[in-house]
Amino acid sequence: MKPKFIDLFAGIGGFRKGFEDAGYECVFTSEIDSACQEVYRDNFNSEVFGDITKIKPQDIPDFDVLLGGFPCQPFSISGKKKGFDDTRGTLFFDICRIIDEKQPTVVVLENVKHLIHHDKKRTFKTILETLTKLGYNVSHQILNAKNFGLPQNRERIFIIATKNSHFKFEKIEKKAPVQLKDFLDKKGDFEYLDKSEYTLIDNPKKQLTGLIFTGYRNKNTWKNGIRPNTEHLSRVHRQPNRIYSVEGTHPTIPSQETSGRFFIYLPKEDRVRKLTINECYRIMGFPKNFKKHSKNGERYKQIGNSVAIPVIYEVAKSIKEQNLLIDEPQRKVVGDLRELLYS
Ligand SMILES: C[S@@+](CC[C@H](N)C(=O)[O-])C[C@H]1O[C@@H](n2cnc3c(N)ncnc32)[C@H](O)[C@@H]1O
Repeated sequence: MKPKFIDLFAGIGGFRKGFEDAGYECVFTSEIDSACQEVYRDNFNSEVFGDITKIKPQDIPDFDVLLGGFPCQPFSISGKKKGFDDTRGTLFFDICRIIDEKQPTVVVLENVKHLIHHDKKRTFKTILETLTKLGYNVSHQILNAKNFGLPQNRERIFIIATKNSHFKFEKIEKKAPVQLKDFLDKKGDFEYLDKSEYTLIDNPKKQLTGLIFTGYRNKNTWKNGIRPNTEHLSRVHRQPNRIYSVEGTHPTIPSQETSGRFFIYLPKEDRVRKLTINECYRIMGFPKNFKKHSKNGERYKQIGNSVAIPVIYEVAKSIKEQNLLIDEPQRKVVGDLRELLYS
């Protein structure tokens, strides 16, 4: 029997795809945004419930794994140490309500890297302490999509809480770095920039992140206030004006860039063009047949909010390989059998 999961803050189903590919079955979904719901239903042919704050845990079918790429919503700590009651009024509180009632074996939470530092690190500490108080062993680590066969520098914090032994992040299978050029469309209606619209810098260098900053769009408005001789630095240019080489990785696809201003330099052609929407979905690990929203703005927002599917797949696979899904009595039987076999 396949292990069962629930998909909270489901977006367009990036978590679902990764877990289904690893042999799990989805039994419940919650997502409030109607544009995301539309895409989710289209791709997974499944019922999508709305606002998590309105969902009664008793109405959710039983499951093994809770998945939640919850929005980073600030909360301040009352300091009364009442466990998850301290987080009342936040979406993390709603996750905890469900955990408390349903007692899943594994909880996988994902968020932006900045969550660790939010409110002088107090938010993150509360999250970890609350999960511990709910009876879980908690592990966390930042995972980067570029280590999972994708040409994107996308760092996200993963928190994995388990009823059994701790999840070991070091057991997750990683892959060698890849280059953006191997993920591009060969043909298409590409939007090239005219040579007068950008400047290439001398001697571009590969950064530790794998990015190769090669130039910038000539936007006069942003040149004001820039100190002389610093134009070769990526940090003096706003993200939509930066141009990166396809021989490196691509920066994070953000959800705010709804007009898709991601510019890439193709050394072989000595030309700069916009990354296409299909290429954006590809460097997040979405399959070719994934059905996107009809509006371009929604498509960019949705993919920027989503997860890198190969990262999720490896997490899902590792949970199985680390035998974290079985409960304690079952674990004892397996242990006894092993002892019998090998003694
Ligand atoms: C960071 S995104 C997660 C996207 C998802 N991991 C994916 O792969 O597409 C957070 C999602 O939580 C949803 N959300 C926010 N508040 C919610 C609520 N009260 N109930 C259900 N979903 C909510 C947002 O609409 C958004 O799609």
